[in-house]
Amino acid sequence: MTPPDTNLYLVGFMGTGKSTVGRQVARQLGFRFLDSDHEIERAQGQPVAKIFAEVGEAHFRALERGFIENGHPADRCIVACGGGLVVPPGMLELLRSRGVVVCLHAPIETILKRTMHTSHRPLLQVDNREQRLRELYAQREEIYRRTGTMVLTDRRPLREIAGHVLRVYRLEAAHFKK
Ligand code: S3P
Repeated sequence: MTPPDTNLYLVGFMGTGKSTVGRQVARQLGFRFLDSDHEIERAQGQPVAKIFAEVGEAHFRALERGFIENGHPADRCIVACGGGLVVPPGMLELLRSRGVVVCLHAPIETILKRTMHTSHRPLLQVDNREQRLRELYAQREEIYRRTGTMVLTDRRPLREIAGHVLRVYRLEAAHFKK
């Protein structure tokens, strides 16, 4: 059997490890790794926080859609999707039409620890970051659960998480039809 060249999209809340896991899986598959935030920043010439501040979140969501629709190669890519990319209506279907979708998951307490001392996320530039994270997590939990197979990234070594993602990817890519 020839190995699949279908793209893999990693979705999930901020701080679930999409970039770290994505890079590792990409190395193992020999695929290209792309991070949607970085690709948008590169194309726009400014950081995500500045895009949010200057043109607003809705515009950023349109840039995310554009990136998925025609801003990246159709094969042999692992894409770490920004946490909100899969949230707007139609985005999950769009991702599924392009490749395998796997959702990374971690409990809110872990997300709090992982994101508490970072400063690049515009949605977390508020006085009460914990409250903001809890609200967003509660709002989106259901949406993430519907995206597909969930892989837990809490209290597991990276090697094991990447192995789990690879197994899911191989199973699903074998049945993927464009
Ligand atoms: C966002 C998550 C961020 C980034 C932007 C908005 C979100 O990506 O796209 O700050 O709405 O959850 P990460 O999930 O990589 O932090």
